[in-house]
Amino acid sequence: MIIEPRMRGFICLTAHPKGCEANVINQIQYTQPKGQIKGPKNVLVIGASTGFGLASRIVSAFGAGASTIGVFFEKAPAEGKTASPGWYNSAAFQKEAKKAGLYAKSINGDAFSDDIKNKTIDLIKKDLGKIDLVIYSLASPVRTNPKTGVTHRSVLKPIGQNYTNKTVDFHTGVVSSISINPSTEEDIENTVAVMGGEDWQMWIDALLNAGVLADNALTLAYSYIGPALTEPVYRKGTIGRAKDHLEETAFKITDTLKKLNGKAYVSVNKALVTQASSAIPVIPLYISLLYKTMKEKGIHEGCIEQIDRLFRERLYTGQEVPTDEKGRIRIDDWEMRADVQDKVAELWEQATSETLPAIGDLQGYKSDFLKLFGFNFSNVNYLEDVNENLQIEELQ
Ligand code: NAI
Ligand code: NA
Repeated sequence: MIIEPRMRGFICLTAHPKGCEANVINQIQYTQPKGQIKGPKNVLVIGASTGFGLASRIVSAFGAGASTIGVFFEKAPAEGKTASPGWYNSAAFQKEAKKAGLYAKSINGDAFSDDIKNKTIDLIKKDLGKIDLVIYSLASPVRTNPKTGVTHRSVLKPIGQNYTNKTVDFHTGVVSSISINPSTEEDIENTVAVMGGEDWQMWIDALLNAGVLADNALTLAYSYIGPALTEPVYRKGTIGRAKDHLEETAFKITDTLKKLNGKAYVSVNKALVTQASSAIPVIPLYISLLYKTMKEKGIHEGCIEQIDRLFRERLYTGQEVPTDEKGRIRIDDWEMRADVQDKVAELWEQATSETLPAIGDLQGYKSDFLKLFGFNFSNVNYLEDVNENLQIEELQ
């Protein structure tokens, strides 16, 4: 069929298989020519189909030559409906990995469940033996705890007080004021249950108990800090509590991995347009000003540039991994540079519906958003009839 973007609120209901393939190939072509990373051999990526997780899988495979198992939760194509973008991304990834002679298999299902953990362990035992890098890159609004059966929903709210600030509807470019009510104690607990470190720990416990982690195994999860501007709704809000928990979990997991001499790291990444970040109020306006500023300074990065730098300049340099005073790897260093943040804060004051097209990178935001769904790639013919019923090879 001929596939066009169909927007509803902050999501796009359709995805384009050819555009998703272009997205994957562009990322491969970024990391591959930089030469082989002396890195991991067998990598498990949990949340491998979009955003930072997909980039992590691509750098592992095409940067380090690793065998990869990817776990994700994506919608298959159905009668008259396209699949979700992560489905097509994974179909394209599998195809490219096969062409390159790289082992790659994927598992589609709820990573929070015991069932998917067991399935993953069985596959590792059957095909790879042991894993030396586990990347945990889930972003989800909901999690059912397999031990209690309770379903938790995360919320994006400030804690303790109302938060009012500017926000933009990036589809229309209208800047308005948004007021968000403070969370309840229950909201905080639920958000920590979904986006905190409990499931990461469960994964590592399960993998360790099954004997499928190699000596010196590393595991990595992704966090965000951001500027004072977004603090009430991000780092000091409900999601920030979850990130605090995730970061604390890294130390616990390092303890868990002691007998293997393994280690857990949290990497603090840059704010980027992904399906997860588009849903957070205020953040899209910040991102559009940040993009403008970082592009002007020639230091803008997307997911693949971030993760490639994480592997080549932080994790696999042959030297000790550099971290901040809280033990975190920082690849948000350029975003957090004083000259960048000062500029963004100045632009923030000026941002209105009228000024934003000139002072912000709304076009870049929109373009990146469409690209998440496989639209807006210049080398794809969107008038062409394409097979939306694409399947993922080596889907377990
Ligand atoms: P994303 O929405 O692009 O990717 C989420 C991934 O999780 C997808 O592969 C999806 O299939 C998978 N997933 C979701 N629920 C699942 C489930 N129940 N079972 C199995 N797989 C499931 O998100 P993004 O932005 O790449 O986020 C990944 C991590 O990076 C998150 O921890 C996020 O907080 C963090 N991060 C994001 C930043 C941003 O600006 N986007 C900045 C810094 C950190
Ligand atoms: Na991801």
